[in-house]
Amino acid sequence: MIVTRLGGGGDIRAIGSGNIGTTNVLRTGRKELAALTLLGDMLKATAAVLLADWLWGGQAGVLAGAAAFIGHVFPVWLRFKGGKGVATYVGGLLGAAWPVALAFAGVWIAVALVTRYSSASALVASLVAPALLAIWWPAETAVVFTVLTALLWALHRDNISRLLAGEESRIGQRSAAPG
Ligand code: G3P
Repeated sequence: MIVTRLGGGGDIRAIGSGNIGTTNVLRTGRKELAALTLLGDMLKATAAVLLADWLWGGQAGVLAGAAAFIGHVFPVWLRFKGGKGVATYVGGLLGAAWPVALAFAGVWIAVALVTRYSSASALVASLVAPALLAIWWPAETAVVFTVLTALLWALHRDNISRLLAGEESRIGQRSAAPG
């Protein structure tokens, strides 16, 4: 939101889906602002994981990543109406289990290439990530990301309704009004 406002893109909450995330910033046509939004939302979670891991070790890192996710989707400073958490989820994964973050990105890209739906890509990738974590990572990490996936799905309920109704907008499709 800060990136779009400072970048002259206006209030992102009044554009497209009204969401403050990368997909919606892309709807303004400002790719550089979308890239900055993606990096910022992602890396704040990565930094939280790495810092907590360095300070306390154990499961502190993954818990800090979860805290960054919760803070992003329910920010006090936006009256608890934040983003849908996809970039922050990936950022947390990057810090906690980077190969799974790469797998997430791979699945996201594959689904996006076929469907051109950002939301569907994130929803599918968010199912794959906990499954991979459950096989190769400590159970606590898999549990935390399963909870985050459930939250991420709940936050995408409007997108899911639009997908089912065939009304979801495609990646890069511009839009002027929230909806
Ligand atoms: O990152 C959120 C994305 O999955 C959907 O965003 O703006 O289409 O609701 P949006």
